[in-house]
Amino acid sequence: MSNTNTIAVEQAFDVEKIRNDFPILKQSVYGKPLVYLDNAATSQKPKMVIDTLCRYYTKTNANVHRGVHFLSEKASHEYEETREKVRQYINASSHEEIIFTRGTTEGINLVAQTFGRQNVREGDEILISTMEHHSNIVPWQMLCSEGRATLKIIPINDKGEIIVEEYERLLTPRTTLTAFAHVSNSLGTVNSVKHMIEIAHNKNVPVLIDGAQAMPHYRIDVRDLDADFYSFSSHKMFGPTGIGVLYGKKSFLESMPPYQGGGDMIKSVTFEKTLYNDLPYKFEAGTPNIADTIAFGAAIDYLGALDFESIQEYEHELLEYATERLSAIEGINIIGTAEHKASVISFTLEGVHPHDIGTILDREGIAIRTGHHCAQPVMQRFGVPATARISFALYNTREEVDALVNGISRVKEIFA
Ligand code: ALA
Repeated sequence: MSNTNTIAVEQAFDVEKIRNDFPILKQSVYGKPLVYLDNAATSQKPKMVIDTLCRYYTKTNANVHRGVHFLSEKASHEYEETREKVRQYINASSHEEIIFTRGTTEGINLVAQTFGRQNVREGDEILISTMEHHSNIVPWQMLCSEGRATLKIIPINDKGEIIVEEYERLLTPRTTLTAFAHVSNSLGTVNSVKHMIEIAHNKNVPVLIDGAQAMPHYRIDVRDLDADFYSFSSHKMFGPTGIGVLYGKKSFLESMPPYQGGGDMIKSVTFEKTLYNDLPYKFEAGTPNIADTIAFGAAIDYLGALDFESIQEYEHELLEYATERLSAIEGINIIGTAEHKASVISFTLEGVHPHDIGTILDREGIAIRTGHHCAQPVMQRFGVPATARISFALYNTREEVDALVNGISRVKEIFA
């Protein structure tokens, strides 16, 4: 991108204005300004999300769907309002398709334990990719071991891209479901999910997308993608932890058995027989995470008011800048060089363990993640035990990339 274009993008997208919305970014760590580059692990929260949580507990707190009193009705209304905000935000057809979960992981486990148990027979196959997070591997392994089905793995190339021809070949009449990430948390690869869903549907195979890393960077339209299931977490989208969404097509959700039993997921209970509640409540047993759901609604409001086109341009330019600067450092090897990437750079530095990189950068006020990133098969694929990973959000800046590069020089000095 030329300098002129860069300036134009930076003007269209006012990063300082955005940074002002996030109180945590103003603090220093070890006497240095905080440089938060661990957004793939969790994002920071804008003031309006924090204020919503505080307001809820100060003014509204009550259980939902149960009381006739003022506070319960208010809490129920705000809780259901978030469901409608999510529905609109992802363009689902109906509120019945929005299931609140604890997060992406729970959404995937829900599908594995309900749709999976109902449909997987001996000899069947579940197809996932090499780049999956453990949360999109282990639930399927657990399911396969119960039903004596097989977990099949789509290979990736040296850039960290799914080999689509192999994917197509591995989809067979035995495939009960295929599940893969929209964006890889360890490599940053953006998969061509719409195309991959189409391929699976041509073979009558339903698709679950792990959308955890895509939601903070893209406006997702589940109907345009034609995803059968799309699971994501609030905390990566500037909302609170402990709340997420499983989107599922009504036709699937209706025929699936409940996930957990308890209050709210029933219509009537006798010792002889229980009638289950309608969608989406059939999948939401027990008192839900009310406060965080309502604050998640504020995060959706925040995201909804942003211009995603400018954000994408800005984040792309930041990723290119960081990639260029890191690549120029001798001894750095970037793992994950896909054509289409989002906001993640995983790397190793010759002669230095990633944990040491992370610890030294931390003393410079720079927060990154080091380790296997809950994607051990990716580490095995690239023959490394761990990587250092930086991951951007819309509030990161070029100056922070410069601070990172200076921090890495410091690491190199120490290990010289
Ligand atoms: N899945 C999160 C990450 O990649 C926790 O860091």
